[in-house]
Order: sequence, then C-alpha cells, then structure tokens
Amino acid sequence: MTAGKTHLNHGSYGAVPVPAQQHQLRLKRQMDANPCTWFMGQAATLAGTRSGIADFLRVPASDMALVINASAGVTAVYNSLPFRDGAEIVTTNHAYGAVLEGAKRIARKHNGQVRIAEVPLDADASLVTELVMAQVNGRTALIVIDQITSATARSFPVVEIAAAAALHGVPVLVDGAHAPGVLEDPVPDFEGFWVGNLHKFACAPRGTAALVARGPFRRHLTPLIDSWGFPHEFPESFDHVGTQDITSWMAASTSFATIESRYGWDNYRSYARALGGYGQHIIQDAFTALTGENAAADVGMPVDPLRLIQLPRGLATTHEDSHAVRALISDRFDFETAITTFDGAGYLRLSTHLYNTAADYEAFAERAVPELVKLARAADTI
Ligand SMILES: Cc1ncc(COP(=O)(O)O)c(C=O)c1O
Repeated sequence: MTAGKTHLNHGSYGAVPVPAQQHQLRLKRQMDANPCTWFMGQAATLAGTRSGIADFLRVPASDMALVINASAGVTAVYNSLPFRDGAEIVTTNHAYGAVLEGAKRIARKHNGQVRIAEVPLDADASLVTELVMAQVNGRTALIVIDQITSATARSFPVVEIAAAAALHGVPVLVDGAHAPGVLEDPVPDFEGFWVGNLHKFACAPRGTAALVARGPFRRHLTPLIDSWGFPHEFPESFDHVGTQDITSWMAASTSFATIESRYGWDNYRSYARALGGYGQHIIQDAFTALTGENAAADVGMPVDPLRLIQLPRGLATTHEDSHAVRALISDRFDFETAITTFDGAGYLRLSTHLYNTAADYEAFAERAVPELVKLARAADTI
C-alpha cells in the first residue's frame, strides 16, 4: 500500500498479503531460472493449483477453471455460447460497464440486442426477479446478472433469477466479481455460469479469477486462448494457457491461508460488518449535517464490506466526473476511494478490509467531507 494514502477502496483492486507476494516472487524466480522445465510442467501444476482455489470457493475442482480476471471469464462465456441470429441478452442497469459492453458486442455480432431491466436502487429480491424476468422472451439467449453490483454495492437474488430462467431454458451468467471473501459460500447453488475475482476481497495476487460452469450449457465452453487443451473438455481445456505467467494463481492459496491463520475469514466478515456500518454512518452523517440533504443511500439487499453513500447534489453525476472526483480525493486529501455514478447521482463506495480501522473513516468524515461539500456548492453555482 502507498505510504501516506488511506485505502477505502479494497473493492477495486484488492491488496495482497506480504507472504503471498513473497511466494509469487519465489515462483517467478524459479520460472526464470529454467523456463523450459517450468512451462513443460505447467498444465500439470495448474490442475493442483485449481484444486486449492476450488476448495476456497467451496466448489468441486471439476466445475471450475482459472482465468485471469472476471472480464476474461465473462468473455469466454460470451464467445462460447451458440447464439442464434437475433439473440438477445438480458441484464440490468447495475451491470458492470465492461461486462455490458461485451454483451452488446456479442448481441451485435448476432444481429440481436441487449435488453436492460431498470432496477431501482432500493428494489427487494422479488422486484428484482420480476423486473429481470419481464425482459425475457423467446429470443433471450442469456441473462447476465450481478451477484454484488459495482456502482451500487448491492446484491441481487441470483438463485431466484436462475431458477426462473431455467423454466424458460435460458442460461444465466452470474457476475460474482466481488463475492469471494465477502461471502462464506460465494458460488450460489444453480446451474449456469459464475465468474468471481480472487484478487478483490479474497486478496489473491492480481490476475486470479475463477469461472464455474454447471449444467447443460457448460459443454459449449471453450477457453479464451486456443492452446494445447483442445482435446479436453471444461475445465481441463482451460488448464492449457500457452506461455502465460500463472504464478499469481499458484500463490493465491497463500493469501487465503495467511488470512485464515492470522485472523480467520469469518472474523474478517464480522469485522467488515461492524466497521463497514460504523464507517458508513459516520461519513453519511457528516455529509447530511453539512448539506441538509439525506446522504443515506436506500440500497436494497446491501453488502457488509461495501457501503454506498450519496454524494452532495452536483458531484460525480457522470462516469467521467466520477473519475475526476476520485482523483481529486486521492491527490488533495490522500484517500483512495471508489466514486460511482448511478441514475445521474454520484456515490461514494466504501470498502472495509482487515487493514481498515475506525480512524480511517473518521479522518475521511473530518478532512474530506467538508471539502467535498464545498466543491459541490461551487459546482452548483457554475
Ligand atoms: C461487478 C464487476 N464485474 C466485473 C469486474 C471486472 O473485473 P476485472 O477487471 O478484474 O476483470 C468488476 C471490476 O471491478 C466488477 O466490479
């Protein structure tokens, strides 16, 4: 972590425990000492690595492949499914931007379109399911649904949606990018596709993600990289990745074990629930006190380690502005945060991990909140 910055944004890029960084470095040295031996044995090594990561996710290794990130897992599914001409993909207005763009690309390729269910921020599980399923019709070839959303830090009822979709014979791709580490049992019980990043809350070295596939559509899956796995089926077909550095995957279990042995994952989740709640309230109360506007975001199905706070009116109302506000908070006030935009309103998304303390959020409320309020007032008068 950069000295002098307070990190309140674990959710974007994670943080890697030092023992896992050291493990990965040792592996890289071995690889560089004799790349011939290293790469000839890589596929065999990978099968064992996959088992360790599958154990952490509580899924059978035979249902899970490794990919470099959630985006790669999503793209593998998009590229593999046999879409017919005019195929439609259903998702929501909470979908991660790049995942949505991928859906549009694949729909365009098949002369189809993406249908977007407009889900209010405060919608409960049954309303979300109803709104998503209302977009399904005879042309629907895939539903893409977030397990935990990025911009709005909420969860969706993925098991209910998958069950409803199964009645129409429609496969579901669950974007669980944030789920590992946040949820004790991160892969929901359904037949379909699930992608999750291990390099976010699970703290694996970056470039570590999983693609789980179950049910009738799994036979279509092909890896993103055509390599020597071609005679095999999923997931062994994904164990051959050409000349790719897989040391992040190999060191991932060191991250999981370090946190388990030093703190315990269950303890982390309890800590995140309590501290996340404290941090959220202290910051949203500070905004409310200064602006007179209620900064509490009415989030349906909230998530413990990711909290959403509404920014004062006028701040981060577009995607571009949200990046500018994030950069300003980092440069001027030394806090790393996630600033998001949803439905034309700006939000501060707070993360909580083991290295965070109450003082981090108190400092943000004291130092950054008054300055952000001034900025919003200035923006309002322009
Ligand atoms: C919901 C969601 N999906 C997908 C991704 C993409 O993750 P990656 O950039 O690791 O592929 C993210 C990244 O933050 C995300 O929040």
